[in-house]
Amino acid sequence: MCGIVGYIGKNQAYNVLINGLKRLEYRGYDSAGIALLSDKHLIYKCKGKVSKLEDLIQDKTTEGTCGIAHTRWATHGEPNEVNAHPHESMNGLFVLVHNGIIENYAVLRKYLTDRGYIFRSETDTEVIVNLIEFYYLKGDLSVESAVQLALQKLVGAYGLVISCKDAPNQLIAVRKSSPLVIGIGTDEYYIASDAAPIVEYTKSVIFLDNDLMAIIRNDEMRLISVTNTKLQPKIEEIDLDIDAIEKGGFEHFMLKEIFEQPKSIRDTFRGRVGINNSDMRLGGLADVMPKLVAAERITIIGCGTSWHAALLGEYMIEELARIPVEVEYASEFRYRNPIINQKDVIIAVSQSGETADTLAAIRLAKASGATVIGICNVVGSSLSRETDAGVFTHAGPEIGVASTKAFTAQVTVLAMLANILAFHRCTISETEFVEFIQQLSQIPDKIEQVLAKDAHIKQIAEKLKDRQNALYLGRGYFFPVALEGALKLKEISYIHAEGYPAAEMKHGPIALIDENMPVVIIATKDHSYDKVASNVQEVKARRGIIIAIVNEGDEFISEMADYTIEIPESGYFLSALTAIIPLQLLSYHIAVLRGCNVDQPRNLAKSVTVE
Ligand code: AGP
Repeated sequence: MCGIVGYIGKNQAYNVLINGLKRLEYRGYDSAGIALLSDKHLIYKCKGKVSKLEDLIQDKTTEGTCGIAHTRWATHGEPNEVNAHPHESMNGLFVLVHNGIIENYAVLRKYLTDRGYIFRSETDTEVIVNLIEFYYLKGDLSVESAVQLALQKLVGAYGLVISCKDAPNQLIAVRKSSPLVIGIGTDEYYIASDAAPIVEYTKSVIFLDNDLMAIIRNDEMRLISVTNTKLQPKIEEIDLDIDAIEKGGFEHFMLKEIFEQPKSIRDTFRGRVGINNSDMRLGGLADVMPKLVAAERITIIGCGTSWHAALLGEYMIEELARIPVEVEYASEFRYRNPIINQKDVIIAVSQSGETADTLAAIRLAKASGATVIGICNVVGSSLSRETDAGVFTHAGPEIGVASTKAFTAQVTVLAMLANILAFHRCTISETEFVEFIQQLSQIPDKIEQVLAKDAHIKQIAEKLKDRQNALYLGRGYFFPVALEGALKLKEISYIHAEGYPAAEMKHGPIALIDENMPVVIIATKDHSYDKVASNVQEVKARRGIIIAIVNEGDEFISEMADYTIEIPESGYFLSALTAIIPLQLLSYHIAVLRGCNVDQPRNLAKSVTVE
């Protein structure tokens, strides 16, 4: 999952391309490159971040009103200058940038090698550019036809921006699975993997559909399918402003996004909760609500943090609406030949709406006749366009690779859905329904109260920053919260952390506990408090370092803990939304104190658009 940018127009391309790469760096950041295009190709590329590329270019020529650029997340070939994009064809006629994976690249590479092609890199991408050139030189094909012919030979996913010396001042953008957005200016066009690099120039965009190809010159754009059908572009206006993708005075996007949660949760239920909190609707599900209410089974799918939100969704829908729910890792679901039929309702949860495994799982479910609903944070994303109905989480752009505000927004939507279904199925009373809405509307303020404890949480992080392992324990709704807390610590501080149902500890993980093992345990006042207290005693007996998340005024467990973080009572049902906040902040401060790159952790990328 790389980041692609392209520009063609009346202005100098260099700044648009470099700034665009910086906005997309959360998608991949192990190497970067740029090509300024005219009747010659000026290509600069290097290992490392976009800032390294800027250093490399600073005293070099950057003339040109047309160009392409790329920031990489390596799949084929290690991160280095040779494997960085853009890739130029052997005879120098074509140059391109690619986001995706070509599964049959080895066969095509051999085919081309047997016909005299010499490859410079280990990438699958170089196969594409050489294949296009091969067809272009072999037959008297136009540039477009050579591209179309080559695409027909590829198996896999791609977002591509292509240029040819024989067609200067023209770019070809084409996609299959990997996302591409085209921004429309006056006599200029912007191309990018998502809207972030485009919004500062224009709000008019085209979200390129699969198997579509845009042939772009600075004064016109033609849209055709890869099989040559002419098409009318669907131009949309995006509601995204530049501030939303700036750090806004915070040191890191992750910290900004943690502190944005009171607002993102309010925005998630804004317009969906009636006056005086007396009613609640998810308009995007109106057409499928009867199917949902009558469902005999609901399957929720996702990956990573979205899977943790899905698990909370299972607990809530089963408890309140009494509908059996299964939760699936999308990557397993798509290949384990699951039993799906027309009666099934599938809910796909994804922040980016571009996660390849989740997209493949929904395509499988749709092919089996199931109703597929999306919970997603990105307007115009593939998931939002391929599902039958859905709910946007309105958390605003999430730039930090570690998901935070998207998680709480997803849980908010799932909690709202569980209550609406329960109300329709009469498994809760109107009083309970209205009570839930009131509790939900108080959550943003309660999160503000937890955020106010940031300094205290940072002090605890100071004590834990040199630990190499950690355990996170929770019961019921707090088991998914424990999983999510452990994932946050893992992905940004590189400390090995595991989340477990607290009672499961005795069945193995307890063997890991000694005076070096931090154990984060969610121990708020609810029906399992006494059970959790025994788990805390079991950890204490092995001299584990106890960090307890407790309710204000807690005494019993606080007494036993080495460190406590108090959170306000917010009703058992919604406590996951307040209990996760200290875990997000703890992992954030530990990672910063360990000198880790919090917004762009090693080996990760914001949306996993390849398998
Ligand atoms: C979470 O912090 C990670 N970035 C990752 O696990 C993420 O949740 C996963 O890749 C799913 O992404 P999605 O929600 O965009 O589909």
